[in-house]
Formats: sequence, structure tokens, C-alpha cells
Amino acid sequence: LSLSQQPRHIRTLQTLSTTPKMSQGSPKAPVVAEAHEVDTYHPPKKMFAKHPSKPHLSGLEEYQKLYKESITQPDKFWGRLARELLTWHRDFQTVRSGSLVNGDVAWFLEGEINASYNCVDRHAFADPNRVAIIYEADEPTDGRSVTYGELLREVSRVAHVLKAMGVRKGDTVAIYLPMIPEAVVALMACARIGAIHSVVFAGFSADSLRDRVLDARCKVVITTDEGKRGGKLIGTKKIVDEALKQCPEVKHVLVYKRTGADIPMTPGRDLWWHEEVQKYPNYIPPEPMNSEDPLFLLYTSGSTGKPKGVMHTTGGYLVGAAATGKYVFDIHPGDRYFCGGDVGWITGHTYVVYAPLLLGVTTVVFEGTPAYPNFSRYWDIIEKHGVTQFYVAPTALRLLKRAGDQFVKGDFNKHLRVLGSVGEPIAAEVWKWYFEVVGKEEAQVVDTYWQTETGSHVIAPLAGVTPTKPGSASLPFFGIEPAIIDPVSGEEIHGNDVEGVLAFKQPWPSMARTVWGAHKRYMETYLNVYKGYYFTGDGAGRDHEGFYWIRGRVDDVVNVSGHRLSTAEIEAALIEHPIIAEAAVVGVADELTGQAVNAFVSIKEGHEASDALRKEFILQVRRSIGPFAAPKAVYIVPDLPKTRSGKIMRRILRKVLAGEEDQLGDVTTLSDPSVVGRIIDVVREAR
Ligand code: WT7
Repeated sequence: LSLSQQPRHIRTLQTLSTTPKMSQGSPKAPVVAEAHEVDTYHPPKKMFAKHPSKPHLSGLEEYQKLYKESITQPDKFWGRLARELLTWHRDFQTVRSGSLVNGDVAWFLEGEINASYNCVDRHAFADPNRVAIIYEADEPTDGRSVTYGELLREVSRVAHVLKAMGVRKGDTVAIYLPMIPEAVVALMACARIGAIHSVVFAGFSADSLRDRVLDARCKVVITTDEGKRGGKLIGTKKIVDEALKQCPEVKHVLVYKRTGADIPMTPGRDLWWHEEVQKYPNYIPPEPMNSEDPLFLLYTSGSTGKPKGVMHTTGGYLVGAAATGKYVFDIHPGDRYFCGGDVGWITGHTYVVYAPLLLGVTTVVFEGTPAYPNFSRYWDIIEKHGVTQFYVAPTALRLLKRAGDQFVKGDFNKHLRVLGSVGEPIAAEVWKWYFEVVGKEEAQVVDTYWQTETGSHVIAPLAGVTPTKPGSASLPFFGIEPAIIDPVSGEEIHGNDVEGVLAFKQPWPSMARTVWGAHKRYMETYLNVYKGYYFTGDGAGRDHEGFYWIRGRVDDVVNVSGHRLSTAEIEAALIEHPIIAEAAVVGVADELTGQAVNAFVSIKEGHEASDALRKEFILQVRRSIGPFAAPKAVYIVPDLPKTRSGKIMRRILRKVLAGEEDQLGDVTTLSDPSVVGRIIDVVREAR
């Protein structure tokens, strides 16, 4: 076996063959690789020259030793880490209980802890003037910094406000905020009083917000008058007002004044943040929480139309966030860390807010986009603040790579040691561009694989320690025991150089404990698919050296620009349109966004297909879910390919879009096989 050989793809599995393909080009020998290990990149030497001290681990051997301990003696390993990384109100006695089979996993039992105390107080006491947040506003000149001392005071005030609004321990609070420091304050204020935060990405529509507020039974919503992103205004308060027309349980809306827009305030319900905080003292004691008390809910898409409220608990989640932040990003005191993710998604929760604050470093909160005012914005921010770690999704990198290397300018590399990638597979060309053009071969690229449900990184290199291969998320994090399973037989495939679906064999501290109000769905989605395992929903390969290559989702989830979308949810949005009879949505490979949404719809009698109608259908999805879910193409077809029992065969639609009409497979189960030809005609005509 050649050491540079990449693992093969599964061609036999329909679901896997439609996912984005990794680059198959023969790898060229990179400068930093040793001769016998082509395509393997070792942590670049220059990264160590910039280091404030040295990485937390001495090298791959120490990782292997600790990894082994984390798998064979998890209680010892995690007990030690939990005490080392966090400050507990009351120590735990039982590190771990429950099992994947029974769906009753619990960590750090008897322990009591408060998330905001760990993220804010302990650093504010030690060093109140240390910068906690660098706010990079949409306009480059409008930003400011918030110290740990200031953060503690503002978090305390807002915690008082929430209490005055009637929020009690265990209540849920919806947060519909853009990327401003107040988003961090809001999360911390909830955690401080034991309220469960449920952030809804501020790009979601009023209907989506309403559904999430209702499902979580939120009593309070926190928002702004407006948001500002890429020079454009977003009417956040207006969307909240619309959503709340159907949310009778919401008693109050707390509104932070971001732009000063003239907005209606509902008397008795809506209150201004700046007015309320003036009423209360600058300190409130943190509520000691049981390790297993919920910290937050975050809604994510699954195979069915209804989004799932993924529930994370306090102790385990914090341990996962702090441990991965420390080891994967090699975070050290004094670091200035910049994650470009939005707090509306899990990346923003764990790696804009929790991990950097738990470790007491400075986190950049960026309100804008990588393209505003121009394509140099990220590099300008990195230079301006001497950023040490940068973390972003491949979709942004593809955009910037395409914009041209002339934008990657400035003396921004001085302190930059780590370049993270997250959310989707990163193609080898993009990885190399990131390493060579952005990082100047002086920073290590870490491709981090994880999910909303895993809470923190599960497969990722440790910066300064793990050798990497472009396109591979490399090796499991501590405590993660991956298994490659044959989806046909359901059996685990042992050994190296294998492909299948990815599962985990052991519980880990930051895994989601349930789906809010739907534990049965949690069991069916994650723990009952392969008994004794946590099922990720992704296809993956393990190569001859034990490195993992994530292939993409094997279920009806599409990944557009790192946004996770459910095809069923988009179909449900389309069917709400009065003219649409039936809809089928599939993901197709897209150069810029990774995957793109394509919709096939049949329309009701008496209507004619037209461009205007197609536009209207796209608008329907924008309105119902949010702009980021809008289909890139809508095909109006006479009928959808259905089996005799009425099941839509999306596989056929995917094949037609891929131009693989000759590989449709078995179509004999279709109730009317002639529809395929008519669909092919529509797609050809549109192109
Ligand atoms: C899905 C989870 C985890 C934060 C952002 C997305 C895909 C995530 C990678 C990666 C290949 C990746 C998977 C996963 N994914 N990271 N490094 N390489 N694929 O969180 O919205 O819960 O989506 O994103 O398909 O299942 P999410």
C-alpha cells in the first residue's frame, strides 16, 4: 500500500455517492512533509517560534498515551480534566453513569457548578482588566472591547433583569440576537440564574422563530431593534413581533438598541435593555447548578420536517468545550482567539463563547461578513488584534480563494498559530490554499469534525501535536472511540482502510442528553440505529494509518455553506404554498456552497410553469425558514417519481441532476416510469 493512497469511496451505497466528493488528485509532495510520508503535514516549525511557550503536549506519543487512558480509564481521565479545567461549587463523586444502550448518560454526578462563574467571575477576580471580548462591528470603525470585569457587571445586571421578568431556574429564554457582545452577555446572564438559553439564529424567519419559541416554551425573548450585517439592516424586532403573535406564553421581550431604529414597543411586554439594566446592582451571585441540569437548547435539522431541540447539560458540556479549546486550538493565556461562526449555531456557542471564556482568553465577536467592506476583512481583523487562532467554515474559504490572493494582504501572520476549519469537508485544494496563502506555512490547519449533538470537537488534530492530511479530520479527540459500521449489515468493521458510516462506542462528557420533549426521537435518531453506539449520520473512512475522512451525511440532511438543512423541512415549507401540489428537495454538489438545495415541485391543475412562479416558490422558502435555506433551483415538473406506495424516490432526482441518467438503477417500482423522461426534459431545458 502506498502511504499517500487515499481511501476509496463507497460506490455501492446510493446515499453516500451523492455527497460531496473529496479531491482525488494525486497529492504533490508538500514542503513540510518527510520524504516517506507524502501528503502528511507536520506542525510547521515556524508555529513554535511564535508560541508564547510550547504546546500542552510534547508530541503525538503523549497524545496516544493520554488517548489510551481516556478510553480505558475514562473516569480517571475525565475526573482529572474536569477538576483541572473548571471550578466546581461542589465536587462530584461519580464521574460517569448510564450507557448509550439505555440513553441515560450522565457525567460528574453530585457535582455543582455554574457556567457563568467559570466563564466570567474567576477571570474577573484574577484580572479584571483582561479583555474578554473584542467586538468587531459590521463597520470596521465601530467596534469596542469588553474586559472580564465589565462583563461580570453587565452579566449580573442582565441576570437581575431576567429575574425581575419572572425567569426562574429551569425556565427557557429565547435569544434572537446578531453577533454583538450582548449576545455573549445574554447567554451568560441566563446561565448565571440557571435559565436555559435557546438561541435562534437571527437569519431565521418569523415562522421558524415562532416554532422554536413554542417548542421550548420560552417565557422571554431577547433581541435588538435591528441587526447590521455586510452593510445591510435586518429587522430583528419586527420578526420577533411577527413570531410572537402566536406565542401567548411569552411575557416579555428585552430589546437591545443596536441601530436606534424607530420600532414599535408593546407596552407591558417589551422593555429596553439600556433602561432595565440601570435599575439593578452590578453583582448577583451565580446559581449553583447540578452537573446534569440543562445549560441550553439549540434547534437543529434532522431527517424529518420538525427541528430538534438538542439539549446540552452544564458540567459535561463545559468540560468538552474547555478541553477541546485547550488541546485542539492549543489555547494559552494571553491568546486572542477569533472564530467567525455565528452564535446562532453550535460553533458560535462552543467556540465563540464557551471555550475561549472558560480558558480566560480574549474572543473576537464579529458582526459582519468576510466580504464587507471588502474581501480582506478577516485578514484585517486578524492583523488589527494580533489574532493567534482563527476558525472558520470552508465555504468562507472557498469564497475568499475565488475572490483572489490579492486580498490576502497585510502583516497579519505575526501571531497566527492555528487555522481551524469546521462544518463540512474541506477539499484538499482549499486546505492547501489556507495553509500556504493564508497561513504562509507558519500556522497549523486543524480540520475539526463535530456536530450540534456532540457539543464539542470529536475528531480533530491537536494543534502543535498531530500530523495532518489535507481533507482528513485526522484522529479522535480524548474519550471518543469511533467505529466504522457497515450500513447494510449493521456490523462494525474493524481494522484500517475501511469505509462505512461513523458511530461512537462510548459516551463522552459533552454529548447531547436528549431532544427537548422528545426523548424517544433522540433514542431513535442517535442511539437505537446501531445498538450500543451513538450514530452520527455521516459516512466516513478510516485510512491505512487510522486517520478519519468524513464523507458527508447519509441521511436527508444537506449542508449548504456549513448550514445544516433538512430536505423534509424545505419540502414542508414549499407545500405550504397554495399552488404547489407536491415537492421533493435534494442536495447537489456546489462549487461555492459545498451543497446546494434543488427543489422539484408539481403544481396544481390550472397553473402554468413560469419564471415568476419559480421565484415565488424560492421566496416561499425564504419566508418560511430563512434566506439561507432558499433553493438554488426550482424545477416545475409534471409529476414526481413515486413508488406504487407513494414514496418519492429522491435518488432518481439526484441522478438526473448529476447527469447520470444512465445510472438510475431499478425504476421498476415506480408507479409511472415515464415521469423520469419528462423530468429529464425539464432539467435539460432549464440548463
Ligand atoms: C454536520 C454537523 C460542528 C459545527 C458546525 C456544523 C458536517 C461538521 C465537519 C468536518 C466534514 C463536517 C457533518 C456533521 N461536518 N464538521 N470537519 N468535515 N464534515 O454543525 O450543523 O450540527 O452539522 O456537519 O456532516 O454531521 P451541525
